[in-house]
Amino acid sequence: MLLLAMFFMPLKGSPLSPVVTTSRGLVVAAEGHAAEAGATILRKGGNAVDAAVATALTLAVTYPRAGNIGGGGFMVVRLADGTATAFDFREVAPAGATRNLYQDAEGKLVKGRSTKGHLAAAVPGTVAGLALAMQRLGSGKMAWADLVEPARALAEKGFEVTDAMAEDLRASADLMGANAAARRIFLRDGNFYRAGETMRQPHLAATLARLQAEGPREFYTGRTAELLAADMAAHGGLITKEDLANYRPVERAVLRGAYRGYELITMPPPSSGGIALLQMLTMLEGHDVAALAPAGAAKIHLFVEVMRRAYADRAAYLGDPDFTKIPVAALLDPDYLARRAATIDSNRATPSKMIGGGLASVTEAEKPEPLETTHFSVMDAAGNVVSCTYTINGIYGCGVVAGETGILLNNEMDDFTSLPGTPNTFGLVQGEANAIHPRKRPLSSMTPTIVLRDGKVVIVTGSPGGATIINTVLQVITNLIDHHMTTSEAVAAKRFNHQWLPDAITYEPGLASEAVMDELRVRGHELKLRKLYPNDPPRWSGMQGSAETIVVDPVTGLRTGAPDGRRPGTAAVSD
Ligand code: GLY
Repeated sequence: MLLLAMFFMPLKGSPLSPVVTTSRGLVVAAEGHAAEAGATILRKGGNAVDAAVATALTLAVTYPRAGNIGGGGFMVVRLADGTATAFDFREVAPAGATRNLYQDAEGKLVKGRSTKGHLAAAVPGTVAGLALAMQRLGSGKMAWADLVEPARALAEKGFEVTDAMAEDLRASADLMGANAAARRIFLRDGNFYRAGETMRQPHLAATLARLQAEGPREFYTGRTAELLAADMAAHGGLITKEDLANYRPVERAVLRGAYRGYELITMPPPSSGGIALLQMLTMLEGHDVAALAPAGAAKIHLFVEVMRRAYADRAAYLGDPDFTKIPVAALLDPDYLARRAATIDSNRATPSKMIGGGLASVTEAEKPEPLETTHFSVMDAAGNVVSCTYTINGIYGCGVVAGETGILLNNEMDDFTSLPGTPNTFGLVQGEANAIHPRKRPLSSMTPTIVLRDGKVVIVTGSPGGATIINTVLQVITNLIDHHMTTSEAVAAKRFNHQWLPDAITYEPGLASEAVMDELRVRGHELKLRKLYPNDPPRWSGMQGSAETIVVDPVTGLRTGAPDGRRPGTAAVSD
């Protein structure tokens, strides 16, 4: 039952966020049909995990720029009985992938090879991961076919293309125009969709029908796998039937941390997000953040210095834990982080070239990832929660629809280090721990996170945005805990990002007054307004990732879902 739905007027200059408050369950997602699909499953007696599965599958149809079954992601679950676990369904490199895959004979990076076309795709994990989550922690009251049905029906019958989506598709004409199936489905061979028209995806509907009838393994061993592998073979891609048959999602122990009396449950490697978030919060804990103006120079300076140090460690030490030994305990050791924080000069920016991985003298960097991916948060009436971030990496992934499957594939191979120690196509240097290796998972920044107080869930959040994800999650959480903002204010507040290299703060328009910006410059910071990302329509220019967030009032137990107005079409729907 919807108790309250209103258009909340957030902070001056910020996008509008339609906020929903309820005593029952709710789903907050980047697209309305997908949020509704999840809420429908809740109404039918499914739990938060069941609803998350239906939402994820529906986003693959209605939000193809990031929603997917051709990519991968992470889901952090916390049940009302206290059980907490994480599902890692990150894509893996095909068995045929080599360390120098994206270099030419002279060892130079080939522009676009790791981002466009079949060679950029890693083996998708989404279907297997969602199925594992459902099997492990679903209510047991819903059949897999029931959870697939909303997505299948929308793929078959179609849905109305919004203004934003029409604009978005047109802006991706270069990327998808190079692939016949993507060009036909998403660009209508140049007869671009206009707002109000209906998009139908019959091939995707048929694939989803096969998944319904034969179960999730069909994706990996059935007709879908055959079609996908055949399309790869025909176009110089690497993913084979064996790669698909061998794909396995992993259930991992969640990463736990604390901040000012709150408990955090977040994603372990192969996400860098959990470790970096906990590092930053621990470094901040010694400072009275609440006493600082939320958009003042002292606050932004402190946060940037903390970000710089955490991202330097990220680049030096993090990768797939199955391939790289990650010193998790050492990186999260409070004594280490106190020493690290003690190197912060409260008046001067520390140049990033002076900061390496803090455990040793490593000075490599990580490239920024494209500003896409999508996050959704789910809570059911019983108090089970899901924080899920999943992705095809770039907007519309590698721009390839795998033949007659209707599945848009990821370009997650670009999240690997393509050329260790040398600037990549974005002009940045990357880390060795994340080098390409067959069957390895690329390092991710996705940071699905749940925050508790006295054993009760108070925040469920996460974000898209590649390397900016971790800093978005940091700012949402500290806006709530330190600055006591309302849910809507915390999500809408202007954001900034520093990721060690490049050594510059990127910021959203309107972050702070000119006086504050000048003060930051005086302290030695370079400031850059966020730019339009490749393929992004102008209306999304300058935005850091959106954070679809649920906040629970610890006194009343009321849940407020705040979809982030940075993305047109985001929605909170209660059951
Ligand atoms: N592809 C974005 C991420 O995983 O961080």
